[in-house]
Amino acid sequence: MAVNSPVVLDPERVQKLIERESAALDERTRGSAEMYKRARNSLSGGVASTYQSRDPWPIYLTTGQGPTVRDVDGNQMWDFHNGFGSMVQGHAHPAINKAVAERVSLGTHFAATTEDGVVVAEELQRRWGLEQWRFVNSGSEATMDAIRIARAYTGRDTIMKIFGSYHGHHDAVMVSIGVPYDRIGDRENYASLPYGGGIPKAVSDLTIAVPFNDAGAMERRIERLDAEGRKPACVIMEAAMMNLGVVLPQDGYLAEVREITRRHGVVLIFDEVKTGLAIAAGGATERFAVKPDLVTLAKTLGGGLPAGAIGGSAEVMHVVEDGTVFQVGTYNGNPLTMAAARASLLEVLTPEAYRHMDALNDRIVSGCQTVIERYGLPGYAVGISAKGCVTFSTVPIVDYESFKANQDVAVTELAWLFNMNRGIFMTPGREEEWTLSVTHTDEAIDAYVAVFDEMASELTA
Ligand SMILES: Cc1ncc(COP(=O)(O)O)c(C=O)c1O
Repeated sequence: MAVNSPVVLDPERVQKLIERESAALDERTRGSAEMYKRARNSLSGGVASTYQSRDPWPIYLTTGQGPTVRDVDGNQMWDFHNGFGSMVQGHAHPAINKAVAERVSLGTHFAATTEDGVVVAEELQRRWGLEQWRFVNSGSEATMDAIRIARAYTGRDTIMKIFGSYHGHHDAVMVSIGVPYDRIGDRENYASLPYGGGIPKAVSDLTIAVPFNDAGAMERRIERLDAEGRKPACVIMEAAMMNLGVVLPQDGYLAEVREITRRHGVVLIFDEVKTGLAIAAGGATERFAVKPDLVTLAKTLGGGLPAGAIGGSAEVMHVVEDGTVFQVGTYNGNPLTMAAARASLLEVLTPEAYRHMDALNDRIVSGCQTVIERYGLPGYAVGISAKGCVTFSTVPIVDYESFKANQDVAVTELAWLFNMNRGIFMTPGREEEWTLSVTHTDEAIDAYVAVFDEMASELTA
């Protein structure tokens, strides 16, 4: 938790360090600058996804091996970004390579289900204790379909989410994420604010946001919506928020949410695109021992290939089986992806792998926390298995409002630059966390902590 009486950081010093580190990163990434010049002639903004863009230019990578990646300039770095939290297996894992290599010469796409898909569904069923599964190709597809299933099951249009949470890039969930703070509205009655252009107001108005870690606010909003004749079909949420750094659920919160949604006949969806297979074999559902009606997976599921899944109780998923909902997709259950997912689940993400990542988590969190206390930094380290971060705030972050009001954006930016200049490839953005892999070692963790120590020393000298 946060240091009791932290030092007050000098904003001018922070700014000077940012300028120095930015110039150093520019110098180290001249090859990326060249690639950017070329790429932007054909790729919009020089990147394949807006989340990959960066000022003054993105970093272009060439290879990944185990816990490391290399950029076009030849800089070799420990990877704590891990493909926005996907590569919990580490890069080019031999078991996944073998499965993919064997599959590739047997045919990579049929639009017909292969045995690997059945095995993956059986293993997910075992891990999550949810009876029925379907596959998709990304996290966005998984949340889009889960919401449609909930709407069909309940016959309602309105949906509820947590303010500040990201659930992918389809219209229904691109609402009330990172928005101008002054428009957020009253906590009991948050505004439904579209995240970016092109989202019809008629759609964003159907999405109602409530604060994280506040079961009372959720129930009161459900009751008011019910009184207005627009009770939500579902609550879609991350059991632990993974896009304000890491925000853990407070004791009892998830159990209360489970109780409230059950009482009101609202489908509970745990979006485990980030947490699933990263914080335990059975994700947040196992870790926090609260079972939702539907769960969505992606990222880690595919072992580096684009996979997603929706799992649910037999009762809710019945609307898929009986044909009420068309849960479809040409590439769903793609043979290559399923071969990778099978090898990942059965050979890589074993109980031993989670013990290893839990131990690494203890090491990185306690290492960073020791640095924070040694230098009196305003912040705290928080982690859970493969996921974690240092949050630069003097008070614990519990929801979007406390994040927006307290996180020190400048120091967060500085930490990223410090990492990138010292061989730590870290997720960009003020909201992101590190992701460890089964191939990370104590050496990788110690390298991370050493860079953090160096920054703390310079910040407080
Ligand atoms: C919790 C959560 N849900 C859904 C998504 C969307 O996944 P994708 O980018 O694969 O569409 C993300 C992506 O970061 C996510 O973090």
